[in-house]
Parts: sequence; C-alpha cells; structure tokens
Amino acid sequence: METRDGNERGEFPGMDAAKEIGQISYKALQKAKAMIKPGVKLIDVAESVESYVKESKYGIAFPLNLSINNEAAHYTPSIDDAKVFSEKDVVKVDFGAAKDGALGDCALTVDLSGNMQGLLEASEEALKAAISVAKAGVEVRDIGKEIEKAIIAKGYQPIRNLGGHTVGLHELHSSIFVPNYDNGDETVLEEGMLVAIEPFATTGKGMVTESDVCEIYSYDAGVQVRTKEARTLLGLIQKNHPTEPFAVRWLASALGSTFSTYAGISELSRNGALMPYPTLVEISGGSVSQAEAEVIIEKDGCEVVTK
Ligand code: CO
Repeated sequence: METRDGNERGEFPGMDAAKEIGQISYKALQKAKAMIKPGVKLIDVAESVESYVKESKYGIAFPLNLSINNEAAHYTPSIDDAKVFSEKDVVKVDFGAAKDGALGDCALTVDLSGNMQGLLEASEEALKAAISVAKAGVEVRDIGKEIEKAIIAKGYQPIRNLGGHTVGLHELHSSIFVPNYDNGDETVLEEGMLVAIEPFATTGKGMVTESDVCEIYSYDAGVQVRTKEARTLLGLIQKNHPTEPFAVRWLASALGSTFSTYAGISELSRNGALMPYPTLVEISGGSVSQAEAEVIIEKDGCEVVTK
C-alpha cells in the first residue's frame, strides 16, 4: 500500500518474521494474479485471496486492493460489489499478510488490454533499479532518482505524490518516505530496516488525488457516537480491527443492511473514530501501473522478502 507522508517510527518486526510474512504475501499476490480475467468479479478475487491467507493461519495487513486503470491505489470491493474485470483493464493488485504485528506489502500489475505492456515494464524496471541501489547509507532521494529515470526512459511519468515507506511493527507506514523521484530528501536508509519500495508509472501527468470512493478505513480513536448502528460497528472494529486497516465489506454481516453499514461507517469517520483511505486516482485520468516489493536493508545491498 502507498503512503503520502511519514509518521513515527515503529519497531522493526525482526528478520525471520519479515521473511515469513513476505513469502505468504507474495504467494497470495500470485493467486490473485492467476484469477484476474475479463468477466471475473473483483469481490471473488478479494474474498478468495483473503480467505487463503486466513486459512493459512495468518492475519491480513490490509484488504486486497484491486485498483483499475486511472485508480492508482486503495480500491477494494464494496459490500456485494457487482464490478467485473473488463478486457480493457490495467489492474493493480496490492496486498499484505500479517503475523504478530509483522506486515507484508507487495504489489503487481496485470494488463488485460494487452497493449499496456510498456507501462507495466516501466514500474517493474523502476523497482529493479531501486532494488539495485538500495543499501545501508543510501539517501532516499537517490532511490527516487533511479525510479524516475527508469520510468521516464520508457516514456512515462512517475507518480510524484505516492511512494514507498519503511515498515514497523503494526505500522505499515513508519517514519521514512521513499519517493518515486529525486525530491531532495537526504534521509539515509540503515542496515536492518524493512522497506516497501513501490514505483507507480502513468500515461498521465504523474499526480494522484482522493476520489469520493472509500472502502478502506483504520481505527483511530474511541468517540461518542449518536446511532446504535455506529456503536455496534465501533465495538466490532475495536475488537477485531484495532490496528490494521480493514474493508467495509468485512463488517457486512454485523448489521445485515448495506445501507446501515455505510451510514454507520460514515458517521464514525466524520466523528474521528476512523481514518479513511479513499481510492486515489490519477489527476489527468492516466492509466497507472505499480510494482512493489518489501526488502531488508543490508550493509552492501538489500534482500527482497516478498518472493
Ligand atoms: Co506499500
């Protein structure tokens, strides 16, 4: 998942936990990739992959994101979502499993149109270029510079207000932001850090903005709420999703009514109980591709854990 700025640093979950979570996250991503075909429902892919991870006795770091064409990130199917993949779609899949606060985060793009291969290669090559320079002591601006160079060389633009991030314990986006261009940030990566690197390439201008659609939230704070529906949802969220982001559809059975669920969630969001993650769209309507891997920073390089 992307971040638009950093916050406090979380404790590193540990090498072994990061590798274990990386492997299951990568497997889940490949399962999603294999299912994405024209005519298939998005919700079937999301539910099947999320169930696979739960049946494998892992938690979920954030809901399966399936963002299409000009959507860059943060779309996950709604309750009873009827949407199907079309043969014109460029689909970003972004997902992570979790265990004891260790969080996976990886992404890939599927081109159902068959004519956006160059756009896919742009983000994939940018990710490779970033991995080849990531090591202890490197400044994040230098990673951004490699990403930008690789994407522009393919004739596309990097998305400049999205980027990668360090990953802490129970903290998908910890202190450090890893830009997709040279933003002048001289922050240095250190040995042992867990970092998600995530280049986005676009046929558009290279900026995203929030849309009105929001299907992902995370718990922020306990607040007083007016309606019984909001109280019921808040109790469930505090019990089942106290830390990691969740999908509204995960709460569908609590009230049994789709309308009441969305009304309750929107009340909680307005009152500051929830942090919203609206779907992010490219401002000029450009198609977007994404590639993401999680790596551990080493003295002379880095090790990809999402493989
Ligand atoms: Co991420």
